[in-house]
Amino acid sequence: MKILVTGGAGFIGSHLVEKCLGLGHAVEAIDDFNDFYDPAIKRANVAGFQAHVPIHEIDIRDGDAVLRAVKGQNFDAIFHLAARAGVRPSINRPKLYIDTNISGTFHLLEAARQGNVPRFICASSSSVYGVLKTLPFREDLALTQTISPYAASKLAAEQLCSNYSHLYGLRTINLRFFTVYGSRQRPDLAIHSFTRAIWEGKPIQQFGDGSTRRDYTYIDDILQGVTACLSYEGQLCDVFNLGESQTTTLSELIAMIENALGKKAVIERKTDQPGDVPVTYADISKSRTLLGYDPRTKISEGIPRFVEGAVSFRAGGASLFARIAYSRREHGDTADCRRTSPGADPDSERESGRRSRDCANGRAGDRGLACRLDATRVSKSTGRVARSLAGTAKSRRPFFGFRGKEAAAAVRATHGHGERRRHDHRSVLRRRARRTRVGTWCE
Ligand SMILES: NC(=O)c1ccc[n+]([C@@H]2O[C@H](COP(=O)([O-])OP(=O)(O)OC[C@H]3O[C@@H](n4cnc5c(N)ncnc54)[C@H](O)[C@@H]3O)[C@@H](O)[C@H]2O)c1
Repeated sequence: MKILVTGGAGFIGSHLVEKCLGLGHAVEAIDDFNDFYDPAIKRANVAGFQAHVPIHEIDIRDGDAVLRAVKGQNFDAIFHLAARAGVRPSINRPKLYIDTNISGTFHLLEAARQGNVPRFICASSSSVYGVLKTLPFREDLALTQTISPYAASKLAAEQLCSNYSHLYGLRTINLRFFTVYGSRQRPDLAIHSFTRAIWEGKPIQQFGDGSTRRDYTYIDDILQGVTACLSYEGQLCDVFNLGESQTTTLSELIAMIENALGKKAVIERKTDQPGDVPVTYADISKSRTLLGYDPRTKISEGIPRFVEGAVSFRAGGASLFARIAYSRREHGDTADCRRTSPGADPDSERESGRRSRDCANGRAGDRGLACRLDATRVSKSTGRVARSLAGTAKSRRPFFGFRGKEAAAAVRATHGHGERRRHDHRSVLRRRARRTRVGTWCE
């Protein structure tokens, strides 16, 4: 299939592009790389696939530009994720939310109609349920009140989709996402911002008494539900919840993050925020039955996984967060060590080796130990990197905060002792690092 993903540089969109490529589809993306959060993060999100995916850097508020990107391209489906996200900022800038999320969606729908795209899958939100008391939320509940411009804009976008199905026979599917988390999560969202603040010893702001409840959904589960829509042949216009169908209070969430980090939070209590709903809770029986949606990641597994990716406790190996941190610190957001040589396959061993060497040797230069250690995490290979680490250990300089024998053990863990042994070393080191709070924030 040929697929267009709008918002393809964002948190969910960039994962979706990768998932679609993995499923063998041809993919294009639209994104304006705006500064709702650091655009360097969005550049890093697309770095891994931009060689394979044409990215239209346009604003979806510009209807002509959207039409030019869509018409004549023979897309089989559009995943429309580009939007101004977040409840609280929408209260300060309602017009921006209305323009982007309603007019922007209209431009995409119109382009789909004129470009004969048969399928339009749109990211909606659990916030459309407002403060309904009937739990869990079912798709067929009457929605009588939303309590933020963001929620109103998402509900309006759903309505526009239903118009286009009814009037023009366009298949539209709205997916109501329930707080999504995982690697690359938006920095404004609670899991990300709390993890970072707790890790850095800064206070976190807890709005309300901690009893608000959310249905948190792991990114891999969302992707499974989203891509299932590519083969959905049910009602021409339909709506599905995508959540985990389990709720966690804010206090429980903070405790989980504290556990995963091995650090206590400094909590500043604030009053409830206008626009925030007390609870979100998805009934997913319809998605299970009709889409085959099957979420598997409990929050008790997902949070440690998120923390493990965000704070590198690693004694070697590569994490995406680490690669981003390295390249942003050392080279701005277009690091050669993340770039594929023109015309080369980025996944080939040769290319991965070149990137590792750039990071481990040439680019480390005289910037000192910290840079070399980052370069180590960037590397997936052993070889030269291991040798440079051995040098580090010999010179008795600290390695991930370890000295002497411990540093040597950490170096050994990165090469040469077979998978099992290496794995054992790494988990011991990670555990010790967590206990002694040695690690680096790597977002
Ligand atoms: N993350 C969640 O928990 C969650 C929950 C419910 C719904 N959603 C919805 O899912 C979608 C993706 O959310 P996300 O968390 O990945 O957010 P995100 O901000 O990371 O991604 C949105 C992307 O859209 C792009 N974009 C915004 N305005 C644009 C414009 N005018 N023109 C072109 N591109 C534009 C942004 O640059 C960004 O890359 C959004 O529609 C959001 O409302 C997300």
